[in-house]
Amino acid sequence: MPQKNKLYLKTFGCAQNESDSERIKTYYQERGYELVQNWKEANLIVINSCVIRESAENRVYGLIDKIRKAESASANASAKRRIILTGCLVPISKKTIKGVDEMLPIKKISFKVEPLRDKKRAALITISSGCNNYCSYCIVPYARGKEISRKMETILKEVDGAIKKGFEEVVLIGQNVNSYGADLEESSIFNLSAKGGSVSGGQSSMGKKRIKSAFPKLLEEVAKKNLKKVSFISSNPWDFSDELIEVIAKYSNIDRLLHLPFQSGDDKVLKNMNRGYTKQEYLDLVEKIKSKVPGVKFSTDIIIGFPGEDEVAFQNTVDVCKKVGFEIAYLNKYSPRRGTVSAKLYKDEIPMSEKKRRWNILNDLVNKKEK
Ligand code: SAH
Ligand code: SF4
Ligand code: F3S
Repeated sequence: MPQKNKLYLKTFGCAQNESDSERIKTYYQERGYELVQNWKEANLIVINSCVIRESAENRVYGLIDKIRKAESASANASAKRRIILTGCLVPISKKTIKGVDEMLPIKKISFKVEPLRDKKRAALITISSGCNNYCSYCIVPYARGKEISRKMETILKEVDGAIKKGFEEVVLIGQNVNSYGADLEESSIFNLSAKGGSVSGGQSSMGKKRIKSAFPKLLEEVAKKNLKKVSFISSNPWDFSDELIEVIAKYSNIDRLLHLPFQSGDDKVLKNMNRGYTKQEYLDLVEKIKSKVPGVKFSTDIIIGFPGEDEVAFQNTVDVCKKVGFEIAYLNKYSPRRGTVSAKLYKDEIPMSEKKRRWNILNDLVNKKEK
């Protein structure tokens, strides 16, 4: 009897990749593969890669290397596994990565493939992919391309499907959920329920892009459903509109822990990061949300050691942490990424030892405090 084909899937990176991996699982199951937990048992290995920092990219090469070395050292050296690479490393690679048999662009795994969801946690629902923001340090717009929003009707159907399967919590996922729908025709957003609701634009207190967004409308439609908790990641400060705050305030099943990355508390650094807001604008936004959404709490992302971050700049970041009182902060040491503006313009001048020192200060302040 032929042996069943076995797939080992390794997922690196963010929630967007985790969500993609749930479709990858179904895609291969439909092709006769059974999932295994150890790569040694597999004859097919799919690596869903992340390149956000050099260390993330290196973990991908490390895994490929480890597998190929172990294979050559084994007695059965001819039984090589097939390694398929997908995810964010594929679009930015000019040629096939050493040790890889196939480079699979993630776009080939259609959204029509039903995700194999993890019953133990919230249903992950991708609402858009890609990003148009071009924060100067960030490789995502190159790795994932321009922002493409899925149709609201399709998303709502997917949410209904998850509810039918017993999920009580969903997470709406996009690189910047606040700009959801800016690329869609208004008609395609509203033909599902032509009654009322406007697409917001220009209501934000900050002026980076002032794009039109249908996210408040989408979030409201999802929150109306029979769900215990609706979360979303990530949202950016500059287009967090008043309309969005109103929707959050109105529906108690919308998560009261908001992820609102600020990256740096220093105006000069923020400008060089192309983030489009100032320290004070960020703090004002947090205050506004706190005043309208009782019980709201915040988590955030911070980049440590961006070029030009001197002690004064770092203290501005410390100050934002003290003023907001984040529940958790994801602390990322700056890593220059090929093709990005900051890698071209600025020298990665802050020594690793100093990045570590600052990392420890923020970690002690935010992540180790008594809750
Ligand atoms: N789209 C999301 C997050 C994308 S990446 C957002 O804008 O909030 C997740 C986090 O990785 C970012 O928030 C940032 O803190 C970090 N990051 C991105 N590029 C980085 C780089 N070159 N070096 C260090 N950290 C980086
Ligand atoms: Fe990167 Fe900025 Fe887009 Fe987030 S919003 S994915 S940090 S470019
Ligand atoms: Fe990494 Fe791609 Fe997400 S680079 S953080 S997996 S969008």
